[in-house]
Amino acid sequence: MLVVQRDCALLAKLIAFAFVRRKDSMVFANPEEKCWKLMGIATSLCLILPLFATLVFCGVSCRGNSGSEESVRNTTEIRTPQLEKLPVPSFGKAPELNKIFQQRKSVRAFSNREVGWDDISLILWAGLGFKRSDDSSIVVSEATRPAPSAGRIYGLRIYVLSDGKLRLYVPEEHALLLVEEQLDTEALATAAYHQSFMAKAPCIFIITSVIEEYQAFYRERGERYVYIDTGHVAQNMLLEAEALGLGAVPIGAFDDEEVGQILGLSEKEQPVYIIPVGHYE
Ligand SMILES: Cc1cc2nc3c(=O)[nH]c(=O)nc-3n(C[C@H](O)[C@H](O)[C@H](O)COP(=O)(O)O)c2cc1C
Repeated sequence: MLVVQRDCALLAKLIAFAFVRRKDSMVFANPEEKCWKLMGIATSLCLILPLFATLVFCGVSCRGNSGSEESVRNTTEIRTPQLEKLPVPSFGKAPELNKIFQQRKSVRAFSNREVGWDDISLILWAGLGFKRSDDSSIVVSEATRPAPSAGRIYGLRIYVLSDGKLRLYVPEEHALLLVEEQLDTEALATAAYHQSFMAKAPCIFIITSVIEEYQAFYRERGERYVYIDTGHVAQNMLLEAEALGLGAVPIGAFDDEEVGQILGLSEKEQPVYIIPVGHYE
């Protein structure tokens, strides 16, 4: 719109200039009168032309658009009338990562085979672990992790439900804390609006958050950051699972209260995302 107004103002100036040249022979009572009249003409043109251009622009927009190029043109305004083709994505520049992106998909059918603790360890590390040395043997930074987090709050927790037991991941120790000796995966699937395939997953990760931890820093924006952080952590876990040759799916449809009760969460802690993981059927 700014472009249209700018162009119209320019046009108005040109017309006023032409007018001056043509009417130079006109006799004005004094130079001040001439100046005021010309400014009046120019101002009128500045007001009328943008209005006219807006009407024409709206008319064109409302006529409807079918092609993708047409819709892009309407959203990016007049400045980019043509699509600029990008180079074909060259997977060769980061082949391993791009292969994982290509392969990732949601998997909802799993074999009975257990997910090994080595794999669980890597998936948890990718989610909330700390950066390690190249051979992964030692933690090299207590501050930085594979996933980003707003203000480095990392106010998320990951529970693991495997071999019928519920455990909480403790990133500082890269260890698990037994929370529940026996937990029914069927109950979790029921709380997820009867997504029965979940009950067959040999391993289920549940990401929870305490919104107050984010709100203490970010006030009302804190809630938004919980979900953004959760997305980063979950994506890391999904891609790690994919890289390990495992199938996984992110689950967002469940009854918060019911899941909270099943996991024995306090009122402040809410489940945000569930990720069943397993070997392909
Ligand atoms: C926020 C979110 C919530 C989701 N919730 C569910 C869910 O409750 N059940 C399910 O089977 N899939 C769920 N999915 C997975 C999507 O259905 C899946 O990612 C989408 O269909 C794209 O397919 P793809 O992952 O195979 O590329 C969810 C995905 C996201 C991002």
